[in-house]
Amino acid sequence: MDQALLCNARLATMAGPGYGLVERGALALGGGRILWAGPLDDLPPEHAALPRHDMGGRLITPAPIDCHTHLVHGGDRAREFELRLQGASYAEIARAGGGILSTVAATRAASEDALVASALPRLDALLAEGVATVEVKSGYGLDRESELRMLRAARRLATLRPVRILTTYLGAHACPPDTDADVYIDATCIPSLHAAHAEGLVDAVDGFCEGIAFTPAQIARVFDASRALGLPVKLHAEQLTHTGGTALAARYNALSADHVEYATDEDARALAAAGTVAVLLPGAFYTLHETQAPPIAAFRAQGVAMALASDCNPGSSPLTSLLLAMNMGCTLFRLTPEEALRGVTVHAAAALGLTDCGRLAPGLRADLAVWDVANPAELAWRIGFNPLHQRWLEGAPC
Ligand code: NIG
Ligand code: FE
Repeated sequence: MDQALLCNARLATMAGPGYGLVERGALALGGGRILWAGPLDDLPPEHAALPRHDMGGRLITPAPIDCHTHLVHGGDRAREFELRLQGASYAEIARAGGGILSTVAATRAASEDALVASALPRLDALLAEGVATVEVKSGYGLDRESELRMLRAARRLATLRPVRILTTYLGAHACPPDTDADVYIDATCIPSLHAAHAEGLVDAVDGFCEGIAFTPAQIARVFDASRALGLPVKLHAEQLTHTGGTALAARYNALSADHVEYATDEDARALAAAGTVAVLLPGAFYTLHETQAPPIAAFRAQGVAMALASDCNPGSSPLTSLLLAMNMGCTLFRLTPEEALRGVTVHAAAALGLTDCGRLAPGLRADLAVWDVANPAELAWRIGFNPLHQRWLEGAPC
């Protein structure tokens, strides 16, 4: 469908500071882009003859964006779930060689085809809730071939489903067994980044800055290498303890600092000054029974943009619902439903460095979600209910 006029809709444009609601709204679409958005009564005459679609009074939002996932991986971690319920902590399991490293073993053993096949049902669950853009990280390979295989598998998903995939190199996710962390960073992680970039597989670079992972000094070396390649960075920071990752991310003008439960007021100021988005991951907070919520009040006070994502991964967040992430963001972190919707649209786009989606505005991609709800707050309100009516990707229903 090349051109269309969607009318009889309520629009949450996400323009300005709130929902940017437009009553009796219309959207003119053409060439995969939004040509015009506003009240039907104000429709410019040049769009009046476009083929009309009556949206039945439904709510249209920008299609949600999942800006932090580990969608591609081998195996499962149901056994670890059982161990945690018996009292073992996430960090204890990781130190004993389980956790991320057990997924590394399963991922190394999986072919590219197997990785794609196992990721597709998880991707389909996200798409069923209207998601149009998904970020996918590597980080369960930890050697050159396995990291590249993960990234290739992630890119292939976009050839099998109508979705935009962005790939993030997360070689600095965990240290492989029996390896010195500094040696791993310099001899494997950074050279593998060069190889992945040379193959055109890297949109951004991420790391895990944590007691059970890498120090700020080690992450800084990965960030220096990324900068030299012209690649944007982001970081898993202050998830379980405060280690200085947020300040580091801000220093490198990172697109985002993610998790950030243990971030301080000073960290919030640094994020604001750098324009770095705080990506909140309530699925991991919930799964790990965490008790320290991110400093939402400080983020609000400083004007830090807050995104929300699924963090879909087999260990800390086996979550494939962005609607549930929105609900958890409100219930666990006390976000407003408006902040939650901004978190999966305009701020999620910013967390990926994208300026062509996340709002309903002329010139942006016509990636839309049409919902069977009257009010946008309903999207964050329900638990386990999917009110999606239709998903549009680049101007076509799919
Ligand atoms: O975002 N924090 C580090 N990485 C993932 C967890 C990965 C795993 O447990 O497999 C996260 O929570
Ligand atoms: Fe993560």
